Parts: sequence; structure tokens; C-alpha cells
Amino acid sequence: MVGVGGACCGRTGRNARDWVLRRRAKTNSFPPSIHSISVTFHDDKDGSSTTVAVPIGTNLLEAAHGARVDLEGACEGSLACSTCHVIVEDPALYAAMPEPDDDENDMLDLAFGLTETSRLGCQVVAKKELDGLAVRIPGATRNFAVDGHVPKPH
Ligand code: FES
Repeated sequence: MVGVGGACCGRTGRNARDWVLRRRAKTNSFPPSIHSISVTFHDDKDGSSTTVAVPIGTNLLEAAHGARVDLEGACEGSLACSTCHVIVEDPALYAAMPEPDDDENDMLDLAFGLTETSRLGCQVVAKKELDGLAVRIPGATRNFAVDGHVPKPH
């Protein structure tokens, strides 16, 4: 593994760090490490798949945006929309996540194409047990926050 500032391919110090940063910018991904997990986003809108190394503690919305994956996030993670809806492909990895809380469930109820393994990307935080996670981004979203709809409590 290449460390920032370490020797790499004959590069040392600042040259090595610059090379790593340029490489990361070019590939939009970070090399996997014990500090990150591999997550694949399958986008139903265009059929693309993108696998990125997601640092532990980062949520899937931040990870997607960092890798230029087209996952909406109209409310920027404040649980006021369902545009960051993702569908976890592996039920075992879905079960390894903390349960969605009531606020997340309320927003999920408004999501387009809700499934048994749906989550809001901004609420799923990378942890070691989720390495290899794959999620689908549905082909459409509902954005009631922008449309002016105010969800009623149950
Ligand atoms: Fe709005 Fe996740 S970005 S709930």
C-alpha cells in the first residue's frame, strides 16, 4: 500500500504525495485499506456501476458524492427527503446495519420503489462489517421537500 508522503515507485516525499493525490483524483477512488471498505453503487438510471473505497465513518451519500456517483441528497443528510434512497443488494449486509430509526423510516415510506432492504444513503455509515457492500440507486426519486409536501406524523 502506498502511504502519502512515503516512497513509491521511486518517488519520495512531496513527489510521492502529489502522485498519490493525482492518482486519487484521476480514479475518483482511494486504495482499499483497513480504514476503508469497498462499496459498489449500481445506478439504475444509466446502468453504470462504480466501486469506491469508503473511509470508515463516512456515510454513503458523502461517499457517492466524493466519487461523483449520481446519488441525490436534496436535504444534505438532514432526514427531510428520500432522494438518497438506496437498495442494499445483500440481505445479510442489510442485517449487519443498525436498524433505521423512526425518522428514517418516515422518510423511507415516501421513497420511490421502496423494498425490504431500502435505506437512506445519508444514514448508512461505513463500518468494517459492511466491506463489499453493493447498493442500487433506483431509477427515480420523489422529492417532497422540494415539491412542498410536508409529511404527516403516523
Ligand atoms: Fe435527504 Fe438523506 S439526503 S434524507
